[in-house]
Amino acid sequence: MESIILAIESSCDDTSAAVIKNGKILSNIVYSQLEHEQYGGVVPEVASRAHHLKILPVVEEALKIAQVDKKELNAIGFTRGPGLMGSLMVGVAFAKSLAMSLEIPIIEVHHMKAHVLAHFIDDPKPKFPFLCLTVSGGHTQIVLIKDHLTMEVLGTTIDDAAGEAFDKTGKILGLNYPAGPVIDKLARDGVPRFEFPEPRIKDLDFSFSGLKTSILYFLKKEVKKDPDFIKDNLNDICASVQDRIVSILINKLIKAAKQTGIKEIASAGGVSANSGLRKALEETGKKRGWNIYTPQLQYCTDNAAMIAMVAHYKYLKKDFAEQDIAPLARFPF
Ligand code: KG4
Ligand code: ZN
Repeated sequence: MESIILAIESSCDDTSAAVIKNGKILSNIVYSQLEHEQYGGVVPEVASRAHHLKILPVVEEALKIAQVDKKELNAIGFTRGPGLMGSLMVGVAFAKSLAMSLEIPIIEVHHMKAHVLAHFIDDPKPKFPFLCLTVSGGHTQIVLIKDHLTMEVLGTTIDDAAGEAFDKTGKILGLNYPAGPVIDKLARDGVPRFEFPEPRIKDLDFSFSGLKTSILYFLKKEVKKDPDFIKDNLNDICASVQDRIVSILINKLIKAAKQTGIKEIASAGGVSANSGLRKALEETGKKRGWNIYTPQLQYCTDNAAMIAMVAHYKYLKKDFAEQDIAPLARFPF
């Protein structure tokens, strides 16, 4: 079935729109809100306002780059959740209004499932069934993917997400938000010589709040002895923190691969952009005979191209939403 679909992502601090034609991405525009840098985290009210200001120009740019007139659209896909309620409302209301005026159907998309389908934007694509380590600012999951739209969460975090562990550590170290990419960069010139404990969590679940506490106590103790400790050891601290976050993720992934017998292993979400994690995945993959799949960097962090992929597969099934649909801050998988 021929299709041209506009997709909208507005769940957190990126306003994004993409156009997909018969399963191929024609454009993907992302406005990453810089408004939050000074606050050390995303401020929900500020995010909603920025989405409100940017959504129209971002959508217009996506249509222009794709060389598609809005009258040619067959459907509009949008992130229904999970995410910040005020941010989601901007994208959902915009998608519903535009679809109503064009008299075309709307397609609801689960943000975390979209992170997984980022693997279907380009080649090589993982083969079903595969496992996906989905690691972002709000989520840390190991997902079993049976087909494009059938997924099961095998393990999840019981407290903080992996991205949060990076961001909260960054805050302690006085780094800008989001701290993940900053720590990644600093870690490249550091040696992971400080030991932080690996939590013992059952099954395939994760925990990162204990790590944050142990980093905090360690730094407090060291700074008491030497006020310049953080400044003088920043690269090594970053390398050590990153090393531990990566080993927590990799060890659970090894357990999941053993339990399921699956060797098709993917990673997705903002933290999958981390160079330490990418390297560890490659090395573990080589050792264990896994096929490793990591999306291009631009499709790791939030973007509408991945929303468009889910919308495309749902469109093929005519899986449309009703106009009275509302966003969900918490959205069961
Ligand atoms: O998927 P994403 O863009 O948004 C959410 O859905 O949360 O992920 C954002 C998270 C932030 O916590 C950010 O610090 C982290 O991804 N992140 C990274 C890197 N790039 C982004 N963490 C570690 N290393 C990176 N290179
Ligand atoms: Zn995300």
